[in-house]
Amino acid sequence: MDGLDALRAKVLEAVSSAKDEAALEELRVATVGKKGEVSLKMRELGRMTPEERQVAGPALNALKDEVNAALAAKKAGLADAALNERLQTEWLDVTLPARSRRAGTIHPISQVSDEVTALFADLGFAVAEGPQVESDWYNFDALNIPSHHPARGEMDTFYMSREDGDERPPHVLRTHTSPVQIRSMLAQGAPLRVICPGRVYRADYDQTHTPMFHQVEGLAIDRDISMANLKWVLEEFVKAFFEVDDVELRFRASHFPFTEPSAEVDIRCSWEGGQLKIGEGDDWLEILGSGMVHPKVLEAGGIDPTEWQGFAFGMGIDRIAMLKYGIPDLRAFFDSDLRWLRHYGFAALDQPNLYAGLSR
Ligand code: DAH
Repeated sequence: MDGLDALRAKVLEAVSSAKDEAALEELRVATVGKKGEVSLKMRELGRMTPEERQVAGPALNALKDEVNAALAAKKAGLADAALNERLQTEWLDVTLPARSRRAGTIHPISQVSDEVTALFADLGFAVAEGPQVESDWYNFDALNIPSHHPARGEMDTFYMSREDGDERPPHVLRTHTSPVQIRSMLAQGAPLRVICPGRVYRADYDQTHTPMFHQVEGLAIDRDISMANLKWVLEEFVKAFFEVDDVELRFRASHFPFTEPSAEVDIRCSWEGGQLKIGEGDDWLEILGSGMVHPKVLEAGGIDPTEWQGFAFGMGIDRIAMLKYGIPDLRAFFDSDLRWLRHYGFAALDQPNLYAGLSR
């Protein structure tokens, strides 16, 4: 039969160069499909003499089988190649960590609270806590701030509302951590050594004030306690907290209703080139209020002032965090901006302790 060899060569070449399964299917239809080239040749068998047919029949059948086999082999090859390509591009490294390494950081306030707690724990102070919604007795009266005392007005207090007709004084969002002094005295009696870190609230908002901020209160009650003990404790604290060998503290006479005498404490520092250095220079930085616990406050806490004395202090945690870590705007502490948190935040495993160094 004429042209069989040429047809065979042409079809096998087309099969081997087919790009994908669709091209292969097109080729199958065009050759061994009902109206394909090979099938049309088979139809010609009917018009042949028996002798011709005896030769052409087996040759055409062989060609048809050969083409079908080539199509099947090529199809399997293309499917393998497609699978391989998918395996390459959809490759997944199951050993990769599920989260990126710095998914979260410790907020500077948490870090500094932990630092302060570690330092005072080393000096024998336990941590005490109280509620953030506080009664006006704990927040004011018990601390020698009676109603109509001007200090109540100065504190920009948030009052909780009472139901109509309820004449009792409203609760407040505590304006300082000092009420925890009273709670600790009532719960534990004397002698007593506690610090009380926590959230406090005042209606105020600018670069250095936010309506919610953090304080830490300190209270030590014992026999024969004096301002000298207060001074030593604060010096130890400031040196360790700011990680300097020497500091100078200045006690400035002041007034707080809950202490007598009262002092505001400044530390010697310099601001050369905008960089704060603690312990040297000609500037003073106010860091806390303090004093000897007022006898009326001891009494409110159920402690006999003729037998016991104590010192107390209150310090802004946000403020000392800003100073230690060079953070310029207090409001950014509470913006939850991830870029800020990644920049100023601490690694989760950097637990402050006195042996490793506080801020490392
Ligand atoms: N409670 C004061 C405030 O919020 C801070 C303070 C001053 C606390 C003197 C004290 C203290 O314990 O002795 O401004």
